[in-house]
Amino acid sequence: MKQQHSPIDGSQADVVLAGVEKRYGNTIALRSMDLSIERGELFALLGPSGCGKSTTLRLIAGFEQPSAGRVFVRGNDVTRIPSSKRNFGIVFQGFALFPHMTVAQNVGFGLRMRKLQKSEMKQRVMSALELVGLDHLADRYPRQLSGGQQQRAALARAIVIEPDVLVLDEPMSALDKILRDRMQVEIRRIQQRLKMTTILVTHDQEEALGMADRVGVLNGGRIEQVGTPRSIYETPRTTFVATFLGASNLLTGKVEGYDGAQAAISVAGRVISIPRGGLERGATVPLSLRPEKIRLCAHSPFMGKVKEMTYKGSTTYVEVDVNGVSFAISGDSAQIRGQHCEVGNLVGLEWDARDVVVLEDVAS
Ligand SMILES: Nc1ncnc2c1ncn2[C@@H]1O[C@H](COP(=O)(O)OP(=O)(O)OP(=O)(O)O)[C@@H](O)[C@H]1O
Ligand SMILES: [Mg+2]
Repeated sequence: MKQQHSPIDGSQADVVLAGVEKRYGNTIALRSMDLSIERGELFALLGPSGCGKSTTLRLIAGFEQPSAGRVFVRGNDVTRIPSSKRNFGIVFQGFALFPHMTVAQNVGFGLRMRKLQKSEMKQRVMSALELVGLDHLADRYPRQLSGGQQQRAALARAIVIEPDVLVLDEPMSALDKILRDRMQVEIRRIQQRLKMTTILVTHDQEEALGMADRVGVLNGGRIEQVGTPRSIYETPRTTFVATFLGASNLLTGKVEGYDGAQAAISVAGRVISIPRGGLERGATVPLSLRPEKIRLCAHSPFMGKVKEMTYKGSTTYVEVDVNGVSFAISGDSAQIRGQHCEVGNLVGLEWDARDVVVLEDVAS
């Protein structure tokens, strides 16, 4: 019953969701989702609690079926194929290991189900454990491992079956920051070495930006934006994406007109020029400007009074009031000090025109 499907963006797509919707009674967990994940890429699904991340994974892995739409893996329609018939490696949210089994038995679990020969099984378990640096702890029980070691055992259990697709649901949420940073690097290294198509669910924006080839930002069961970490961070499409991924100054601009390809937009009582077409004269537009894109200077059309300063070590956070509009600035501490920046002082603000992003929605 395999049905061929032309992926949305060419032949490289490994996992495709086409018009997928998921309802639980009256709750709509996912709304008409189209998503195409390429072979060998690490795709991060990012979004706040309850936005539908785990639901998306469960549908992709086959633990649940969509209320509408189709799921394709390597061109085959798998919408009605149960999870046990899809060759997926899965690390669940919470990643429970079987407590009564040793590390090696845990890792070998998926292989036993596949009825491999004992010698081959042993060899594959050991090489998976080596990959995650746990070969010396093969005979321990989960309770005798640290959180990070348990996490790596769960990862070994998922990759030992050589899955077509690796699916990770918040695999690092139980770890402290230092371990999490290390696991992020390790998972990325293993994923690249095995060239495994990997879907990582996280609500940690740094994790998504730091690990993924591409990021999909989910909000209320809808994909708001898909792109490389850099494009999502530097050119957010909506207010939600701009604020969910790091801090941003959300400003309101008014389109005054055009000078060639440059839109003249008034912000905080001054007019700035932005290289952006298609805006209607007189329209009010939401703008996003990242705090680290603003520099302090002595003279600028944007002069303002320093309201607040917070020293954070290498960076300093400054809040400046320009004609009643508050600007957040985050910059190198030494540079900011060099600008005679002190609460109550007058300072100038400057930035590159291309760093002001016109958002598509209205700030809420
Ligand atoms: N079995 C279920 N029955 C009813 N509603 C459900 C069920 N599973 C999930 N939901 C609802 O669907 C929505 C999406 O849930 P989901 O678990 O996908 O969120 P999530 O993005 O993974 O959140 P978190 O970051 O908290 O894990 C939520 O509103 C949730 O309450
Ligand atoms: Mg979840």
